[in-house]
Amino acid sequence: MRAGILPELKREDPRLEPWVEQVARLCRPDAVVWCDGSPQEYDRLCQLLVRNGTLRPLNPELRPNSHLALSDPSDVARVENRTFICSRTREDAGPTNNWVDPIAMKQTLHGLFDGCMRGRTMYVLPFSMGPIHSPIAHIGVQVTDSPYVVLSMRIMTRMGREALEALGERFFVPCVHSVGMPLRPGQPDVPWPCSREHKYIVHFPEERAVWSFGSGYGGNALLGKKCFALRIASCMARDQGWLAEHMLILGVESPQGEKTYVAAAFPSACGKTNFAMMLPPRQFAGWKITTVGDDIAWIKPGADGRFYAINPETGSFGVAPGTSFGSNPSAMEMIRKNTIFTNVALTDDGDVWWEGMTDTPPRHLIDWTGQEWTPDCGRKAAHPNARYTAPLAQCPTLDPEWENPAGVPISAFIFGGRRSTTVPLVFQAFNWSHGVYLAATIGSETTTAATGTVGEVRRDPMAMLPFCGYHMGDYFNHWLDMGRQIPNPPRIFRVNWFRKDPSGRYLWPGFRENMRVLKWIIDRIHGRAYAIESPLGWMPRREDINLQDMDGFTHEDFHQLMEIDCESWIREALADEELALKLYGKMPKEFLLDRQLLISRLWRSPDPWKLAYQLPY
Ligand code: OXD
Ligand code: MN
Repeated sequence: MRAGILPELKREDPRLEPWVEQVARLCRPDAVVWCDGSPQEYDRLCQLLVRNGTLRPLNPELRPNSHLALSDPSDVARVENRTFICSRTREDAGPTNNWVDPIAMKQTLHGLFDGCMRGRTMYVLPFSMGPIHSPIAHIGVQVTDSPYVVLSMRIMTRMGREALEALGERFFVPCVHSVGMPLRPGQPDVPWPCSREHKYIVHFPEERAVWSFGSGYGGNALLGKKCFALRIASCMARDQGWLAEHMLILGVESPQGEKTYVAAAFPSACGKTNFAMMLPPRQFAGWKITTVGDDIAWIKPGADGRFYAINPETGSFGVAPGTSFGSNPSAMEMIRKNTIFTNVALTDDGDVWWEGMTDTPPRHLIDWTGQEWTPDCGRKAAHPNARYTAPLAQCPTLDPEWENPAGVPISAFIFGGRRSTTVPLVFQAFNWSHGVYLAATIGSETTTAATGTVGEVRRDPMAMLPFCGYHMGDYFNHWLDMGRQIPNPPRIFRVNWFRKDPSGRYLWPGFRENMRVLKWIIDRIHGRAYAIESPLGWMPRREDINLQDMDGFTHEDFHQLMEIDCESWIREALADEELALKLYGKMPKEFLLDRQLLISRLWRSPDPWKLAYQLPY
């Protein structure tokens, strides 16, 4: 162990160049390249990666300027158990984050990063999260030894010369990334370098710094995204009075031109991108959904006492499997060109394919592991967490205000999870603190976006459990405070598109039909829609939601979707206790009271509580 490691990794000089020199001295790359973000640079790096075998160009007629990357089979998702929040005290990180003492972690990192870029080029990427010069935006600088990361960062952020010029002498979030696989002279590279032994995704919240080692996968390696825009930004937001959230932002435009923006949080791989780009069904002629963002929202109180949100990103890093012209035609248009695909399958004519893209699979493919694939081979052709990385500007539903530096005004927050039982299609919180309680108690069945068991219900408050850079109890209190500080906070709703009947059939068709629920939400926001008081919150009756012309959807389906099984809900409320105990001491008192009120409402209601039993108004 070397003394003096701490000051070496610590950035005492606010200027960029000395920091880059310091990192280069530690990592010892063969060359340092400052990226300008130009199309020429993008093309050069694509060519380099095609020569290295990392990228395969797709058929330019079918998928212009697009590439396929197949990752190392061990490097396919975020690694939550290798993700660390190294705040000064364990208490600040809280019990839901992996904490390691920052000095000990710096010693570990020093050992790992020492010489880790030998034989490679270190790229320096200045980037802006949010429109350059927006008062809600912030600048970061990532160094990386992965050209694949450079290309992806250029799609996902405003990267290059403009961000560097905007930086000047201002504050930036330093982000250091290495695939963790140095090369000896003459040693051939592998197509997807990464460290099989060591993966560390490390955050230093007080220093606002990120160090990531050993993985080339998006969520671990594109440090502007989860690491900076959520984990570090959530700490900045707590300290500076704003919100950094795992939320999509969409606009709803009525046929009369009324525009309403909402932000919605769903855990990873629960359909945020589909919801953000939804095309309303034909019963909603003249209504338009427009997309501001599909994953992250930075939200600040504006001078008029409303919340204003920007999307800090410029790209969409979406889950490919399940994306089709049926489920998300806008995403399919968005990824027609200039897109990087990772871990999807390759067709014989040089295009891409994944499960769910078409009803009938092609007769032959090269699968995500590079092997021959036929429909009867018993393997998936694409990895379930296969991704596309595409410019949001190519999305046909893009909102005209998406780059407005002032952001868009948010009228509602919608929270949802993937729940096959218990949770009704939609309900509205009684007030702000009840809404924050509802958001904090979302449960969701786990998906493949992170490594670990799939299908278990886990509590995922505000869909931020893997992304909050500090103690969740402090985070809840911050939310409560933020709502109290503004005169007219957004309304809060819970939704669940995934409820099933006892035979396992989805009760709600989802996708574009979610517009029917969204329309009720919009009408509630504007004080136009009726709702009935249920034990959980305000609920629409059948006649309050437009359910016209839904093939095969019956009144009984709607009532099943909205039914409240009080006993299950009491168990659900008691299940909150587990998280509450973990966060004990920092749990807002409001939540304890809200839980008591919920239980007493459930206790005193007929069980099951059915909308069908309520008197028509
Ligand atoms: C993502 C995630 O990639 O949430 O957006 O995992
Ligand atoms: Mn996400």
